[in-house]
Amino acid sequence: MTRTLTILNGPNLNLLGEREPDIYGRFTLADIESACAEAARAHGFSIAFKQTNHEGELVEHIQQSRESAGLILNAGAYTHTSVAMHDALKSLSIPIIEVHLSNIFAREPFRHHSYVSPLARGVICGLGPKGYTLAIEALTNLI
Ligand code: DQA
Repeated sequence: MTRTLTILNGPNLNLLGEREPDIYGRFTLADIESACAEAARAHGFSIAFKQTNHEGELVEHIQQSRESAGLILNAGAYTHTSVAMHDALKSLSIPIIEVHLSNIFAREPFRHHSYVSPLARGVICGLGPKGYTLAIEALTNLI
């Protein structure tokens, strides 16, 4: 069995560190990638860590993740809008964990609905970058 975890990040997450730091903090996506690589290694896994601002590319990355052992997904704003992403997730049989840096339920009502959650084994939100490493721990236990 493959020992790779796919970690996908959606639109605007490339701007972490400079984008709305009061909500998202000062760390960068590269900081999150390093923490994820280290956490995965500790569990005997490697990671395929990706970010895209494009919905179709996110769909393609999701389709490709079928080759990996599990998927961690922070789909950014596409979480709340993308039926195409929902359908792509539906085609997977690997476990999916949904992650958000912020607590989407403590924010605007349009963030309260997720097209990822019905297909996820678990959801972690509001814990900042720690959510990613917690998701790795959960996913490696599930696999
Ligand atoms: C986010 C929450 C989304 O509502 C938002 O559109 C993002 C980031 C988070 O990680 O908190 O881009 O997914």
